[in-house]
Amino acid sequence: MLTVKDLKGIEGKKVLVRVDFNVPHKGSEISDDNRIRAAIPTIQELLNKGARVVLMSHLGKVDWKKLKKGEKTLEDIEGQMKKNDLAIAVEPLKARLKEALGREVKVSFCKSTKGAELKAAVAALEDGSVLLVQNTRYEAGEEKNDPELAKEWASLVDAFVMDAFGSAHRAHASTYGVPEILKGEGKPVAIGFLVEKEVSALSRCVEVKKEDRPYVAILGGLKVTDKIQVIDTLLKKCDYIIIGGAMAYTFRKVLGEKIGSSFLDESALDYAKKCLEEANGRIILPVDSVITDSFEPVEGRKVSVCDGDIPEGFEGVDIGPKSSKKFAEIISKAKMVFWNGPMGVFEQAEFQSGTKAVCEAIRDLKGKAFTVCGGGDSASAVKQFGYKADFSHVSTGGGASLEMIQNDGHLPGIDIIR
Ligand code: 3PG
Repeated sequence: MLTVKDLKGIEGKKVLVRVDFNVPHKGSEISDDNRIRAAIPTIQELLNKGARVVLMSHLGKVDWKKLKKGEKTLEDIEGQMKKNDLAIAVEPLKARLKEALGREVKVSFCKSTKGAELKAAVAALEDGSVLLVQNTRYEAGEEKNDPELAKEWASLVDAFVMDAFGSAHRAHASTYGVPEILKGEGKPVAIGFLVEKEVSALSRCVEVKKEDRPYVAILGGLKVTDKIQVIDTLLKKCDYIIIGGAMAYTFRKVLGEKIGSSFLDESALDYAKKCLEEANGRIILPVDSVITDSFEPVEGRKVSVCDGDIPEGFEGVDIGPKSSKKFAEIISKAKMVFWNGPMGVFEQAEFQSGTKAVCEAIRDLKGKAFTVCGGGDSASAVKQFGYKADFSHVSTGGGASLEMIQNDGHLPGIDIIR
């Protein structure tokens, strides 16, 4: 696979870099710019070589079904998103990008995602300068990998660099269609430094060596339906799978425990049962929970710790102290750890203990084991609690890192570059 370092003779050439600037934000307030900073080495490398850099990213999701008939202009999309306090225009990211690149780099922004305005903006680029393009998802064809859209984007540039690790599990027009076309035309396509680093770290969690055992996976978080399917694969690779967070209640229900009003994924009950049978004791579940009668942080809400059954009217929002201890014991024996998903609602101070306990157990492995945090909310938690430097690798991709493991190292956005 070519990397950005291998790209030669690109002075004055237009290079499309697909980045993942899907950063956590509220309106134009960015709460974590890690994904922007992670793409800088690749952009800088191209700028140093005198290339003209076109950056494309998505930000958030556009709910096309919710748009009323005839309401499909960019203004309609922005209006709908703003109404929901989910502004997804990419423009506010420009200032952060400029700050990360340094004052001397010229960065411009194009509010159009196709047509004459975009063409003109790309044509106006100077050597060693950057153009940030509006959210790729303003185009309905992006997520469908529409061939016409991919053709138009590909026609704008001379080369393509994939550095959006967080989006590499999506075969969209900007992550798959464009490099596919350029490759067919014999133009250079490469991966960026971020993708290179991510692939090298995560490959170790895919092809497990003897010296990396015991290999412990820790799963948690809210996206139960998305994540639960990886358990099958992890059972083949790992020695233990620790399950906390919302996902655990579906498993505890299968074991006949009462889970009160905790999150339950009814559709995954049979699958969870099958996993528990196959695991033969290698799936480790919480034995106690922090429970509350109100998820919202209202005054006077009841919060307590309970062993086993959760009473009606209460829901589990974190693992309890006995579970933290049990999980830490298993983690302490690991030679390799892959962690994806927090143990509880760590955004609220009262429900942080379980996630912090996992961070501490992994910190104690520093220098003794290879430890990976698989992006998303767990990466935010690791950063927020100050444990980032204790991990061997903290991924920028939540879904992508899980899918990479699930698909034995394959992701469409990277395979197309190969
Ligand atoms: C992510 O945040 O996981 C990536 O940017 C992909 O976003 P998506 O799930 O909206 O495709």
